[in-house]
Amino acid sequence: MRGQLAGKVVVVTGCASGIGQAIAEAVAAEGAAVEGVDRQEVRESQVADISDVGDVERVVADIKRRRNHIDALVNCAGIWASGTVVTTDQELWDRIFAVNVRGAFLMSRAVIPSLEARGGGSIVNIASNYGLVGGRNAAAYAASKGAVVALTRAMALDHAAAGIRVNCICPGTVDTPLIRRPMREMVPEEARALTASRLARHPLGRIGTPADIAPGTVYLISDGSSFVTGAVLPIDGGYTAQ
Ligand SMILES: NC(=O)c1ccc[n+]([C@@H]2O[C@H](COP(=O)([O-])OP(=O)(O)OC[C@H]3O[C@@H](n4cnc5c(N)ncnc54)[C@H](O)[C@@H]3O)[C@@H](O)[C@H]2O)c1
Repeated sequence: MRGQLAGKVVVVTGCASGIGQAIAEAVAAEGAAVEGVDRQEVRESQVADISDVGDVERVVADIKRRRNHIDALVNCAGIWASGTVVTTDQELWDRIFAVNVRGAFLMSRAVIPSLEARGGGSIVNIASNYGLVGGRNAAAYAASKGAVVALTRAMALDHAAAGIRVNCICPGTVDTPLIRRPMREMVPEEARALTASRLARHPLGRIGTPADIAPGTVYLISDGSSFVTGAVLPIDGGYTAQ
Protein backbone atom coordinates (compact mmCIF):
# COMPACT_ATOMS: atom_id res chain seq x y z
CA MET A 1 0.00 0.00 0.00
CA ARG A 2 1.50 3.33 -1.07
CA GLY A 3 0.68 6.67 0.52
CA GLN A 4 0.11 5.38 4.06
CA LEU A 5 1.98 8.40 5.48
CA ALA A 6 0.42 11.01 3.17
CA GLY A 7 0.09 14.40 4.84
CA LYS A 8 2.41 13.60 7.70
CA VAL A 9 5.55 15.55 8.58
CA VAL A 10 8.23 13.12 9.79
CA VAL A 11 11.56 14.13 11.34
CA VAL A 12 14.34 11.57 10.79
CA THR A 13 17.73 11.92 12.51
CA GLY A 14 20.76 10.20 11.02
CA CYS A 15 19.24 10.63 7.53
CA ALA A 16 22.59 11.03 5.73
CA SER A 17 23.67 7.40 5.87
CA GLY A 18 22.74 3.77 6.35
CA ILE A 19 19.51 2.94 8.16
CA GLY A 20 18.39 6.56 8.60
CA GLN A 21 18.81 7.22 4.89
CA ALA A 22 16.71 4.14 4.00
CA ILE A 23 14.05 5.19 6.52
CA ALA A 24 13.92 8.74 5.12
CA GLU A 25 13.50 7.35 1.59
CA ALA A 26 10.81 4.85 2.62
CA VAL A 27 8.89 7.44 4.61
CA ALA A 28 9.00 9.85 1.65
CA ALA A 29 7.88 7.06 -0.71
CA GLU A 30 4.79 6.63 1.51
CA GLY A 31 3.85 10.26 0.93
CA ALA A 32 5.26 11.96 4.05
CA ALA A 33 7.19 15.22 4.06
CA VAL A 34 10.58 14.24 5.50
CA GLU A 35 12.65 16.60 7.62
CA GLY A 36 16.11 15.06 7.84
CA VAL A 37 18.59 15.97 10.55
CA ASP A 38 22.22 14.87 10.52
CA ARG A 39 25.62 16.18 11.55
CA GLN A 40 26.72 15.56 7.95
CA GLU A 41 25.42 17.87 5.28
CA VAL A 42 23.21 16.18 2.69
CA ARG A 43 20.65 17.54 0.29
CA GLU A 44 17.41 18.77 1.85
CA SER A 45 18.40 18.05 5.43
CA GLN A 46 19.44 20.16 8.37
CA VAL A 47 22.92 20.00 9.84
CA ALA A 48 22.83 19.53 13.60
CA ASP A 49 24.56 17.59 16.35
CA ILE A 50 21.71 15.86 18.19
CA SER A 51 23.76 15.74 21.40
CA ASP A 52 23.82 19.55 21.49
CA VAL A 53 20.76 21.20 23.05
CA GLY A 54 21.25 24.45 21.11
CA ASP A 55 21.45 22.62 17.76
CA VAL A 56 18.39 20.51 18.55
CA GLU A 57 16.23 23.44 19.61
CA ARG A 58 17.32 25.47 16.57
CA VAL A 59 16.46 22.78 14.01
CA VAL A 60 13.17 21.77 15.61
CA ALA A 61 12.07 25.42 15.84
CA ASP A 62 12.95 25.86 12.18
CA ILE A 63 10.97 22.76 11.15
CA LYS A 64 7.95 23.96 13.16
CA ARG A 65 8.15 27.40 11.56
CA ARG A 66 8.28 26.02 8.02
CA ARG A 67 5.86 23.09 8.38
CA ASN A 68 3.46 24.31 11.08
CA HIS A 69 3.18 20.81 12.51
CA ILE A 70 5.13 17.59 13.15
CA ASP A 71 3.51 14.12 13.20
CA ALA A 72 6.41 11.78 13.90
CA LEU A 73 10.04 11.56 14.95
CA VAL A 74 12.49 8.78 14.16
CA ASN A 75 15.52 8.86 16.46
CA CYS A 76 17.99 6.96 14.29
CA ALA A 77 21.31 8.86 14.53
CA GLY A 78 23.80 6.89 16.57
CA ILE A 79 27.44 5.99 16.91
CA TRP A 80 29.32 2.79 17.65
CA ALA A 81 32.53 2.15 19.57
CA SER A 82 34.11 -1.12 20.62
CA GLY A 83 35.63 -1.75 24.02
CA THR A 84 35.11 -3.45 27.36
CA VAL A 85 34.65 -1.38 30.51
CA VAL A 86 38.40 -1.75 31.03
CA THR A 87 39.42 -0.55 27.57
CA THR A 88 36.80 2.21 27.13
CA ASP A 89 38.01 5.61 28.26
CA GLN A 90 35.61 7.94 30.00
CA GLU A 91 35.45 10.48 27.16
CA LEU A 92 34.37 7.77 24.71
CA TRP A 93 31.79 6.41 27.19
CA ASP A 94 30.35 9.91 27.61
CA ARG A 95 30.31 10.56 23.84
CA ILE A 96 28.42 7.31 23.14
CA PHE A 97 25.79 8.20 25.74
CA ALA A 98 25.65 11.84 24.58
CA VAL A 99 24.71 10.84 21.04
CA ASN A 100 22.79 7.58 21.49
CA VAL A 101 20.83 8.48 24.64
CA ARG A 102 20.95 12.24 25.24
CA GLY A 103 20.35 12.82 21.50
CA ALA A 104 17.10 10.82 21.58
CA PHE A 105 16.09 12.60 24.80
CA LEU A 106 16.77 16.11 23.43
CA MET A 107 15.05 15.45 20.09
CA SER A 108 12.01 13.90 21.80
CA ARG A 109 11.77 16.74 24.31
CA ALA A 110 11.87 19.32 21.53
CA VAL A 111 9.30 17.53 19.32
CA ILE A 112 6.74 16.27 21.87
CA PRO A 113 4.97 19.64 22.36
CA SER A 114 4.26 19.69 18.59
CA LEU A 115 2.87 16.14 18.71
CA GLU A 116 0.70 17.12 21.69
CA ALA A 117 -0.59 20.15 19.82
CA ARG A 118 -1.52 17.83 16.94
CA GLY A 119 -3.48 15.54 19.28
CA GLY A 120 -0.92 12.74 19.07
CA GLY A 121 1.85 11.28 16.98
CA SER A 122 4.52 8.62 16.83
CA ILE A 123 8.13 8.37 17.98
CA VAL A 124 10.31 5.49 16.78
CA ASN A 125 13.68 4.94 18.47
CA ILE A 126 16.30 2.86 16.68
CA ALA A 127 17.97 0.87 19.46
CA SER A 128 19.87 -2.39 18.78
CA ASN A 129 19.91 -6.13 19.42
CA TYR A 130 22.76 -5.19 21.82
CA GLY A 131 20.14 -3.41 23.93
CA LEU A 132 18.36 -6.74 24.44
CA VAL A 133 21.15 -9.30 24.75
CA GLY A 134 24.82 -8.93 25.57
CA GLY A 135 27.38 -8.21 22.91
CA ARG A 136 31.08 -8.74 23.48
CA ASN A 137 33.52 -5.83 23.43
CA ALA A 138 30.75 -3.23 23.14
CA ALA A 139 30.13 -2.20 26.75
CA ALA A 140 29.31 1.48 26.22
CA TYR A 141 27.32 0.86 23.03
CA ALA A 142 25.27 -1.99 24.55
CA ALA A 143 24.58 0.04 27.70
CA SER A 144 23.47 3.02 25.62
CA LYS A 145 21.09 0.91 23.54
CA GLY A 146 19.68 -0.74 26.67
CA ALA A 147 18.96 2.79 27.87
CA VAL A 148 17.14 3.57 24.60
CA VAL A 149 14.92 0.49 25.09
CA ALA A 150 14.10 1.58 28.67
CA LEU A 151 13.56 5.19 27.55
CA THR A 152 11.10 3.95 24.91
CA ARG A 153 8.93 2.19 27.51
CA ALA A 154 9.10 5.14 29.95
CA MET A 155 8.09 7.62 27.24
CA ALA A 156 5.31 5.33 25.99
CA LEU A 157 3.71 5.46 29.45
CA ASP A 158 4.28 9.18 30.04
CA HIS A 159 2.78 10.31 26.73
CA ALA A 160 0.07 7.72 26.01
CA ALA A 161 -2.67 9.99 27.38
CA ALA A 162 -1.60 12.65 24.86
CA GLY A 163 -2.01 10.13 22.01
CA ILE A 164 1.72 9.89 21.44
CA ARG A 165 2.92 6.35 20.71
CA VAL A 166 6.58 5.52 21.39
CA ASN A 167 8.14 2.30 20.10
CA CYS A 168 11.58 1.04 19.29
CA ILE A 169 13.23 -1.19 16.73
CA CYS A 170 16.22 -3.34 17.61
CA PRO A 171 18.12 -4.17 14.42
CA GLY A 172 20.60 -7.01 14.22
CA THR A 173 23.82 -6.38 12.31
CA VAL A 174 23.04 -4.21 9.29
CA ASP A 175 25.42 -3.54 6.42
CA THR A 176 26.12 0.20 6.77
CA PRO A 177 29.18 2.45 7.20
CA LEU A 178 28.77 2.00 10.98
CA ILE A 179 29.97 -1.61 10.72
CA ARG A 180 32.17 -1.17 7.63
CA ARG A 181 34.34 1.58 9.17
CA PRO A 182 35.83 -0.52 12.02
CA MET A 183 36.39 -3.46 9.63
CA ARG A 184 38.66 -1.29 7.46
CA GLU A 185 41.11 -1.11 10.37
CA MET A 186 41.29 -4.91 10.74
CA VAL A 187 43.76 -7.28 9.10
CA PRO A 188 41.98 -9.40 6.43
CA GLU A 189 41.85 -12.59 8.56
CA GLU A 190 40.30 -10.69 11.46
CA ALA A 191 37.67 -9.12 9.16
CA ARG A 192 36.89 -12.53 7.61
CA ALA A 193 36.49 -14.14 11.05
CA LEU A 194 34.18 -11.33 12.17
CA THR A 195 32.02 -11.67 9.05
CA ALA A 196 31.74 -15.44 9.56
CA SER A 197 30.79 -15.07 13.23
CA ARG A 198 28.16 -12.44 12.36
CA LEU A 199 26.58 -14.75 9.78
CA ALA A 200 26.58 -17.61 12.30
CA ARG A 201 24.76 -15.49 14.88
CA HIS A 202 21.90 -14.55 12.53
CA PRO A 203 19.75 -17.69 12.10
CA LEU A 204 18.41 -16.45 8.76
CA GLY A 205 21.99 -16.78 7.47
CA ARG A 206 22.66 -13.21 6.45
CA ILE A 207 23.12 -9.79 7.99
CA GLY A 208 20.50 -7.11 7.38
CA THR A 209 20.31 -4.28 4.91
CA PRO A 210 18.95 -0.80 5.67
CA ALA A 211 15.93 -1.72 3.52
CA ASP A 212 15.10 -4.50 6.02
CA ILE A 213 14.64 -1.92 8.81
CA ALA A 214 12.65 0.76 6.96
CA PRO A 215 9.26 -1.02 6.52
CA GLY A 216 8.92 -1.67 10.26
CA THR A 217 9.56 2.00 10.89
CA VAL A 218 6.92 3.00 8.34
CA TYR A 219 4.46 0.66 10.09
CA LEU A 220 5.19 2.14 13.54
CA ILE A 221 4.62 5.68 12.20
CA SER A 222 1.48 4.75 10.26
CA ASP A 223 -2.08 4.75 11.56
CA GLY A 224 -2.04 0.97 11.07
CA SER A 225 -0.10 0.71 14.35
CA SER A 226 -2.50 2.95 16.28
CA PHE A 227 -2.84 0.39 19.15
CA VAL A 228 0.94 -0.20 19.41
CA THR A 229 2.97 1.62 22.01
CA GLY A 230 5.90 0.67 24.24
CA ALA A 231 6.73 -2.14 21.81
CA VAL A 232 10.27 -3.35 21.27
CA LEU A 233 10.56 -4.88 17.82
CA PRO A 234 13.66 -6.89 16.94
CA ILE A 235 14.39 -6.87 13.20
CA ASP A 236 17.43 -9.06 13.47
CA GLY A 237 17.21 -12.25 11.40
CA GLY A 238 16.53 -14.20 14.59
CA TYR A 239 19.61 -12.99 16.49
CA THR A 240 17.73 -12.42 19.78
CA ALA A 241 15.53 -15.53 19.41
CA GLN A 242 18.42 -17.71 20.57
N1 LIG B 1 24.45 -1.00 11.42
C1 LIG B 1 24.14 -1.84 12.40
O1 LIG B 1 24.59 -3.00 12.41
C2 LIG B 1 23.20 -1.41 13.48
C3 LIG B 1 22.67 -2.41 14.32
C4 LIG B 1 21.80 -2.04 15.33
C5 LIG B 1 21.47 -0.72 15.52
N2 LIG B 1 22.01 0.23 14.71
C6 LIG B 1 21.64 1.63 14.97
O2 LIG B 1 21.04 2.17 13.84
C7 LIG B 1 21.27 3.58 13.81
C8 LIG B 1 21.81 3.98 12.45
O3 LIG B 1 23.06 3.33 12.28
P1 LIG B 1 23.71 3.06 10.84
O4 LIG B 1 24.23 1.69 10.87
O5 LIG B 1 22.80 3.50 9.76
O6 LIG B 1 24.99 4.04 10.97
P2 LIG B 1 25.64 5.09 9.95
O7 LIG B 1 26.95 5.43 10.56
O8 LIG B 1 25.58 4.58 8.56
O9 LIG B 1 24.64 6.34 10.07
C9 LIG B 1 24.52 7.06 11.26
C10 LIG B 1 24.14 8.49 10.90
O10 LIG B 1 23.98 9.22 12.13
C11 LIG B 1 24.64 10.46 11.98
N3 LIG B 1 25.07 10.95 13.29
C12 LIG B 1 25.97 10.37 14.13
N4 LIG B 1 26.15 11.14 15.20
C13 LIG B 1 25.33 12.21 15.07
C14 LIG B 1 25.08 13.37 15.84
N5 LIG B 1 25.72 13.58 17.00
N6 LIG B 1 24.18 14.27 15.40
C15 LIG B 1 23.54 14.08 14.22
N7 LIG B 1 23.75 13.00 13.42
C16 LIG B 1 24.65 12.09 13.84
C17 LIG B 1 25.83 10.18 11.07
O11 LIG B 1 26.32 11.36 10.47
C18 LIG B 1 25.22 9.20 10.09
O12 LIG B 1 24.65 9.86 8.98
C19 LIG B 1 22.23 3.88 14.96
O13 LIG B 1 21.50 4.35 16.08
C20 LIG B 1 22.83 2.51 15.26
O14 LIG B 1 23.28 2.40 16.59
C21 LIG B 1 22.86 -0.07 13.69
